[in-house]
Amino acid sequence: MMIRVSPLALHLTQVVLLTCLLLSSFWASAAWEELSEAELETILVEKFAEGKYSAKGADNCLMCHRRSETVMALFDGVHGRTSNPASPMAPGQLQCEACHGPQGNHNRGGKEPMITFGPDSRVSASAQNSVCLSCHSGDDRLAWHGSTHDIEEVACSSCHNVHAAQDPSRDKLQAQANCTDCHRQQFAQMQQRSSHPMRTGQITCVDCHNPHGSLNDAMLSQVSVNDNCYACHAEKRGPLLWEHAPVSDNCAACHNPHGSVNDAMLTQRPPQLCQSCHASPHSGSPQFQGGNSAFTAGQSCLNCHNQVHGSNHPSGKLLQR
Ligand code: HEC
Ligand code: HEC
Ligand code: HEC
Ligand code: HEC
Ligand code: HEC
Ligand code: HEC
Ligand code: HEC
Ligand code: HEC
Ligand code: HEC
Ligand code: HEC
Repeated sequence: MMIRVSPLALHLTQVVLLTCLLLSSFWASAAWEELSEAELETILVEKFAEGKYSAKGADNCLMCHRRSETVMALFDGVHGRTSNPASPMAPGQLQCEACHGPQGNHNRGGKEPMITFGPDSRVSASAQNSVCLSCHSGDDRLAWHGSTHDIEEVACSSCHNVHAAQDPSRDKLQAQANCTDCHRQQFAQMQQRSSHPMRTGQITCVDCHNPHGSLNDAMLSQVSVNDNCYACHAEKRGPLLWEHAPVSDNCAACHNPHGSVNDAMLTQRPPQLCQSCHASPHSGSPQFQGGNSAFTAGQSCLNCHNQVHGSNHPSGKLLQR
């Protein structure tokens, strides 16, 4: 599992840890936090240019860091699998430094900064992400650059956890919980009276969105809102003899895909929904004396116009059959 950690190294670890403890007040006084972000970035860039990687790889880092359960959990996950030659921890790879950057003088008391990740990191998200992308730029990440998450400085490590037995993205509900940590509005909507079955994880955000970006609006996995809906609601795809213009145009004109207080995830309830576009229907029809009133009072438009998604009936022009 672990690589090149000899019993001697383990023993040394205890000694070094003790020293670490003794010196910790000294380090605390020279904390990385005191560096401005620009100074931090300069140091990291210089360290990369110097390329002073540790000759002993992970063994060296673990002398001081093996007490941390977080650190050691790396070896339970895919990145710690030495049998996979592409894994950062495989023999001949840069190991810990593949992600945290070259050690440089960091081993002199841990004072010189390393690349850090996670919510407390002061290394810019794009710098953090470039590390991950050095191995993961293929396939699914082709649209990352310029995506909304890239522009908004969302870090890979906001959704991924490499020092863990299992990455959260492997579990649909965990991955979704990550999304809703930031996306509170969508979280609220999915709790409402009607919504896609997202709370149970039958459908989750990534069934519709690509978190790594896509070439489509709203990072959708399909080229348009309607193509997104048709992926699962194929029966709503035309062409129909009588189409209802907004349906073939944009399902989201009437539905909120994340949920709503109204039935069928409607953005408004009929008749208001219908009247938002049909301000005064029937106004030219003498048989509806007085135009609209009879219909808004109590009767839903859908009682008569029940084929709201369009009709294939020869006389379905008015969406009544
Ligand atoms: C001689 C002991 C020592 C060695 C060797 C060492 N470190 Fe550290 N490291 C420290 C100390 C002490 C800190 C805490 C610094 C601080 O918080 O100011 C630290 C901090 C870190 C952090 C930041 C942790 C955090 O909480 O944000 C990372 C990442 C890190 N080290 C990675 C490495 C890697 C990778 C190696 C091997 C290339 C390595 N270290 C080798 C002592 C060491
Ligand atoms: C694949 C990239 C990667 C590799 C390889 C890697 N790390 Fe990390 N490390 C991270 C990320 C990302 C985090 C932030 C927490 C997380 O997402 O898991 C982190 C967090 C840390 C921390 C701070 C965590 C804490 O204890 O609070 C330390 C220290 C650290 N790594 C040391 C190491 C050491 C030592 C190794 C080698 C044994 C190593 N890392 C290998 C990516 C990596
Ligand atoms: C040195 C190359 C390397 C680096 C750097 C690297 N990875 Fe990986 N990553 C791998 C390999 C190899 C795998 C396993 C791929 C496989 O099994 O097909 C992997 C798998 C993954 C997976 C899939 C996890 C799973 O359980 O299937 C995620 C997510 C991931 N990496 C995220 C990250 C993140 C985030 C970073 C930056 C903090 C990062 N990686 C840095 C090589 C790397
Ligand atoms: C907003 C959350 C989020 C961010 C940010 C994110 N990912 Fe992911 N990633 C996911 C989810 C969710 C999955 C699982 C996708 C699925 O099941 O379709 C995943 C899957 C993966 C996988 C494994 C599947 C594959 O395509 O090989 C890798 C590797 C990966 N991400 C790398 C990255 C890297 C590198 C970054 C940063 C450039 C990143 N991710 C940023 C959420 C995210
Ligand atoms: C660290 C915070 C964070 C996390 C975690 C996160 N996002 Fe985002 N996301 C943002 C920010 C910031 C924006 C831009 C503002 C907005 O639209 O809310 C954004 C925008 C989006 C957009 C709109 C894109 C556009 O171009 O209009 C979608 C879709 C999205 N995120 C999906 C997801 C999904 C799916 C996940 C989980 C896999 C996720 N996000 C996780 C921060 C995050
Ligand atoms: C059934 C498909 C579907 C699911 C599931 C889904 N979305 Fe969306 N999402 C969409 C569509 C379609 C749009 C574009 C809506 C529009 O254009 O009006 C969108 C838009 C967004 C936006 C842009 C702002 C907005 O509301 O228009 C964000 C952010 C977002 N989704 C986040 C999420 C998050 C987070 C989740 C999971 C909690 C999620 N979505 C689940 C289909 C979905
Ligand atoms: C990944 C598959 C998937 C996608 C994509 C999808 N849906 Fe759904 N939709 C479902 C499932 C599953 C249900 C629940 C069906 C059930 O409970 O019988 C559902 C239910 C609905 C309902 C009925 C909700 C209720 O409370 O009665 C509406 C309306 C709906 N979807 C509209 C849309 C729209 C609009 C889009 C595109 C923005 C869309 N769906 C995209 C799978 C999907
Ligand atoms: C003009 C407004 C409007 C538009 C646009 C619209 N819908 Fe609807 N949709 C409704 C109304 C009203 C209901 C509830 C009444 C009913 O069940 O027919 C509904 C119900 C649904 C339902 C649940 C009942 C059923 O028919 O299966 C699904 C699924 C659905 N719509 C999908 C879609 C999809 C997919 C699109 C885009 C192709 C779309 N809708 C566009 C108004 C609309
Ligand atoms: C987003 C705007 C919008 C919404 C919301 C909307 N419609 Fe429409 N509707 C249209 C447009 C545009 C047409 C096509 C008008 C035309 O061809 O002159 C249309 C056509 C119709 C027609 C056929 C009229 C004709 O002369 O062919 C009926 C009936 C109708 N809508 C009923 C409804 C009902 C009932 C609702 C509510 C469930 C509704 N509409 C919601 C935009 C909308
Ligand atoms: C009692 C049944 C009934 C109800 C309820 C009803 N309609 Fe109608 N609607 C009709 C009939 C019948 C016609 C055809 C009238 C004609 O030939 O002029 C029509 C025509 C229409 C037309 C096309 C002609 C025009 O006048 O614009 C639209 C749009 C329309 N209705 C929208 C609505 C809306 C929106 C509602 C809800 C506020 C609604 N209808 C409620 C029966 C109904």
